[in-house]
Amino acid sequence: MVVDHRAVETGFAFECEGVRESFGGSGAEGRGVLDVSLEVGEGEFLTIVGGSGVGKTTLLKILGGLAPRSAGRVSFRGRPVTSPPEGVVMVFQDYSRSLLPWRTVDHNMSLGLEGGRLAKPERRERIDSALGKVGLSDSKRKYPWQLSGGMQQRLQIARALAVAPEAFLMDEPFGSLDAITKATLQDELARLHGETQMTIVFVTHDVEEAVYLGDRVIVLAGKPAGVAREFDVSLKRPRHQITTREQPEFLDLRHRVHLALGQ
Ligand SMILES: Nc1ncnc2c1ncn2[C@@H]1O[C@H](COP(=O)(O)OP(=O)(O)OP(=O)(O)O)[C@@H](O)[C@H]1O
Ligand SMILES: [Mg+2]
Repeated sequence: MVVDHRAVETGFAFECEGVRESFGGSGAEGRGVLDVSLEVGEGEFLTIVGGSGVGKTTLLKILGGLAPRSAGRVSFRGRPVTSPPEGVVMVFQDYSRSLLPWRTVDHNMSLGLEGGRLAKPERRERIDSALGKVGLSDSKRKYPWQLSGGMQQRLQIARALAVAPEAFLMDEPFGSLDAITKATLQDELARLHGETQMTIVFVTHDVEEAVYLGDRVIVLAGKPAGVAREFDVSLKRPRHQITTREQPEFLDLRHRVHLALGQ
């Protein structure tokens, strides 16, 4: 994979302007699912919350060049997005579909790295390190169907970590995980973000997670859906699972995001 590290003119990683998607519906449906304008700063950790079916996955897919849009403009680092941009990795909500059942854990891991410029030893090291981070080092020779749902999700996350992309589009990546694994991976992702300054757009239905991880939380709502509210999060980093979640700013933001969601 050739990654272009040239300076960004706009200062934004993603820009989308007047992006609409109506999935070809007519009449009332023709109003569409999405009508969004949004900018994601270079290196920003943006979290998105919104009700089920509001259009979060659709928006991520449009940002990642994986879904058509009816209208509007999307760019990544100043370049129009017409297909998946280099350096952008998407972690899907439906993880089972993104793993190849006939390849072992180890060979699923090497998928995203094959054909790249990495020498074999570095590839090996990245794979081992990423599998270690998600607690799958002992499952290298297993096949996806021999893993639990949570393990399959962790494998997908490990695969994305190993690619070390410039931007992550993550669709409820920790949704199906147990609380302990979820907390570990949240902190791992936050650490990785701090180290690499990669841009992350992270969809979740968990308001606490959105506040805990984000530099900014946006609430997607309406029909067609747009950015209904946005909240800047100035909680200092590195954040801590217990103490950060006890801070008045955290509790206040959690409260206000819940209200914005109509909860
Ligand atoms: N390929 C498609 N064709 C037609 N309609 C679609 C398609 N994909 C999504 N939709 C519709 O668009 C709307 C938004 O779907 P989307 O998957 O983006 O929601 P979401 O916010 O991710 O929901 P969830 O939280 O349940 O994952 C839904 O009403 C869905 O039925
Ligand atoms: Mg979704």
